[in-house]
Amino acid sequence: MRFCKTLLHRPRLEVAMLFLLMSTLASAEELTPQRKVELQNLILQDCGSCHGMTLKGGLGSALRPEDLDGVAASTITHIILNGVPDKPMPPWRGLLSDSEATWIAHALKAGVLK
Ligand code: HEC
Repeated sequence: MRFCKTLLHRPRLEVAMLFLLMSTLASAEELTPQRKVELQNLILQDCGSCHGMTLKGGLGSALRPEDLDGVAASTITHIILNGVPDKPMPPWRGLLSDSEATWIAHALKAGVLK
């Protein structure tokens, strides 16, 4: 008991634990520059195979920033991860992590081709 009390009141330990927690959270969110390049290629090649190589639409709807103006990034993320039921849009969960799908949603809204 006395040991616990001493342990909890050591500020340096608390700071160390805080840093550990922060770095764990950061690594779950941050994508490496190389992964971003891979995702950019995936958007143009894999998504582009249905949505058009320039994302102007094909079998799938157009995915340029102006086409997604009224669609929230969180909705796009949801569609990427879960697909569209009864439509050819496949779910990407398992191939893409939540962070990666979120990154793609924001990249589409920002315009990846520029
Ligand atoms: C096999 C073909 C196919 C592939 C591959 C595909 N999609 Fe789709 N996607 C579709 C179709 C078809 C729709 C339209 C569904 C509908 O009519 O509502 C769609 C719809 C969407 C929508 C909703 C658009 C809107 O305006 O609501 C988004 C966002 C989307 N796809 C993103 C992606 C992304 C990102 C990828 C790559 C990771 C991808 N799609 C890969 C066929 C595909």
